[in-house]
Amino acid sequence: MNVIICKDYDEVSVKAAEIFKRQINGKPNSVLGLATGSTPIGMYNCLADMYSKGEIDFSQVTTFNLDEYYPISQDNEQSYHTFMNNNLFGKINIDASRIHIPNGETTNPAAECEAYEKEIARHGGVDLQILGIGRNGHIGFNEPGDRLNTKTHITALSSDTIDANSRFFESSDKVPTHALTMGISTIMSSKKIILLASGHSKHNAIKELLSNGITTDNPATMLKMHPDFTLICDSAAYSDIHIGIDIGGMSTKIGVVDNNEIIDRCDVEITAGQTAEDITDAMAEVCLDFAARYDVQSIGVGTPGIIAHGKVWATNLPFCGFRLADELSSRVKLPVSVENDAACAALGEQIAGAGAGAENMLLVTIGTGIGAGIIMNGKIYSGCGAAGEVGHMCIDINGIECPCGRHGCWEQYASVTALKNQTAAAAKAHPESILGKLCRESAISGKTAFKAADMGCETAREVLDNYFNYLAAGLNNLIKIFDPQTVLISGGISNEGDNLIIPLNKRLAPFSAVKIAELKNDAGIIGAAALK
Ligand code: PGA
Repeated sequence: MNVIICKDYDEVSVKAAEIFKRQINGKPNSVLGLATGSTPIGMYNCLADMYSKGEIDFSQVTTFNLDEYYPISQDNEQSYHTFMNNNLFGKINIDASRIHIPNGETTNPAAECEAYEKEIARHGGVDLQILGIGRNGHIGFNEPGDRLNTKTHITALSSDTIDANSRFFESSDKVPTHALTMGISTIMSSKKIILLASGHSKHNAIKELLSNGITTDNPATMLKMHPDFTLICDSAAYSDIHIGIDIGGMSTKIGVVDNNEIIDRCDVEITAGQTAEDITDAMAEVCLDFAARYDVQSIGVGTPGIIAHGKVWATNLPFCGFRLADELSSRVKLPVSVENDAACAALGEQIAGAGAGAENMLLVTIGTGIGAGIIMNGKIYSGCGAAGEVGHMCIDINGIECPCGRHGCWEQYASVTALKNQTAAAAKAHPESILGKLCRESAISGKTAFKAADMGCETAREVLDNYFNYLAAGLNNLIKIFDPQTVLISGGISNEGDNLIIPLNKRLAPFSAVKIAELKNDAGIIGAAALK
């Protein structure tokens, strides 16, 4: 298999047209296998252009099209007869008697298919076959699950293909349900095959084609067995490399992500006094370096704060209505998307971490404060830009005053800051306890109470019991509102593992799907890269 990777669709079209030109100029009576769909249109335009400049003569060429809908009349606007006339035949000097397209008007499809196959053989077989590829890997109308040894035949369209092609019809119920198509054997008996693919929607199909193995789940994989097969695709179809950026208060983590795996990374420090432009310049420098070394398709950024109408507001960063996506995109010349950092972390976990497969989930980050990323129906939910500020959900209207101006916010009871305060108060009230001793010996952290409880300290157990009750109360509210499949806990406290999860799930029964997030600091990078 030869692989030609082009920068974009236009280059794919030119490269493919050049192969056709060489074929026809080398053998003027070539038998060409032609395809429809949006992909070959650019190549057909190039060929028509070459013809108008006198660079190719189609007068002796014979053509066989791959397929036609069934049933469909030839003059239907969506028939492949009409498509070929509009996109190629009407623009070149082809002899109409040498054009072959399966007859979608036939009353005997089996006989039509047999005759079509014989006609190809009578012309000595196809010299050069052009193919597009469906996003499910179909070629012609050979759909996933079909046999790979077929000749021209009638076939039912898969629901994915009906969905993909419904863009050409008034609605999906107007797409014909069947087609007459060359089989995989017919295609494989062509002397030379080129397959064109463009755009990210084809990436999965191309990835399977390029990986080991042949499978009926992706009929195009059979082409690897052909002795003269060339794949021509643009970098969007070939590559799934994106940059993910996770902006934090002190540093920004930038990673190159290939198929949800970080393959390269770099941290950039954020220093006091830096402006929004300075931070963007520093990110852009790293992104440009990565883009020079990898085939990067886009950049995703997770940032603290609120993102609305393309602008970012973040209290601990110099972003005050800053157009981060536009500013970074204009420096790096790649598409840039921006989302809240907790939302990106949730997406990262949902794609490649502890939330894999959960269409509805929450990631609750427990640290200095409490925040959440919300995944609803497989996508980030950000409301009008500020959803996920769950730390400011009120759990006691007469409770502790919060710097936000309200009373009884959840994070005043269930953040790591709150746990530290509760630990300090208990140590003061019970200086004789193990907890009291630990607190005198070293600085109080979120771990102190867990450590003392582990050492058998009753005071520490009471601190944790009270803390878990508050944590569970807020989680319970969220579970009642969102009814998620799972709730993931991240942030420093998640290092406590089962010591945290078991008491929480006990308090939340019958809900028992609170888990520790898996990807730690990488979640934000992977999620941001997946914003694409
Ligand atoms: P497309 O279709 O070129 O319109 O993407 C290709 C195919 O389905 O084979």
